[in-house]
Amino acid sequence: MKFFIDTANLAEIKEAAAYGFLDGVTTNPSLMAKEGVSEQDEHIKAICALTPGPVSAEVLATEKEAMIREGRHLASLAHNVAVKLPLTMDGLAATGALAADGIKVNLTLVFSPLQALLAAKAGAAFVSPFVGRLDDVGQDGMALVEEIVTIYGNYGMETEIIVASIRSPQHVLRSALLGADIATIPFKVIQQLAGHPLTDKGVAAFLADHAKVAKK
Ligand code: E4P
Repeated sequence: MKFFIDTANLAEIKEAAAYGFLDGVTTNPSLMAKEGVSEQDEHIKAICALTPGPVSAEVLATEKEAMIREGRHLASLAHNVAVKLPLTMDGLAATGALAADGIKVNLTLVFSPLQALLAAKAGAAFVSPFVGRLDDVGQDGMALVEEIVTIYGNYGMETEIIVASIRSPQHVLRSALLGADIATIPFKVIQQLAGHPLTDKGVAAFLADHAKVAKK
């Protein structure tokens, strides 16, 4: 299972990379705006230099031809850019053209299993179901991931599932149990993954026991 970080913050990406298990990065226009980035080219290049893994950069265009133009431009910024398109009819149509150029496409804002089926048929390298936003409206986001895993397994579809809109370590655990390919995780949740009170208590007890016998 691969771990991506879901952020446009360079310091967070550097720190996550230093932990040694960072396989890629996802961004979106909201995450860019949070960092005060209005022209994303230089920022995308800076992110791509921090990881050899795929870096998803999202288009702002909403019409097919404009998406293709913007997608080709984003892909020209660095060898490891994956172009992120919204799963609309235009996004699906643009996916085929970009994939034919050898560009990896991440179809995003996916909320149904049939959208995910279309993403695979269109030739997307990645599909991003948004589990947290489904949970927010009273649905079970992880049930969507389970359905996509089943459908892709039924037909041997190679599109990689990126579990997105992750809110907690439980989302990461359930992704792993379901066999999702990738979880894209906010920095705060990455930090939560390693923590356990019994680990902290155990370390403190070991140090205290050692201190009792340590030579003064
Ligand atoms: C990642 O590809 C998505 O853009 C991101 O996970 C969305 O997360 P949010 O629902 O917390 O905005």
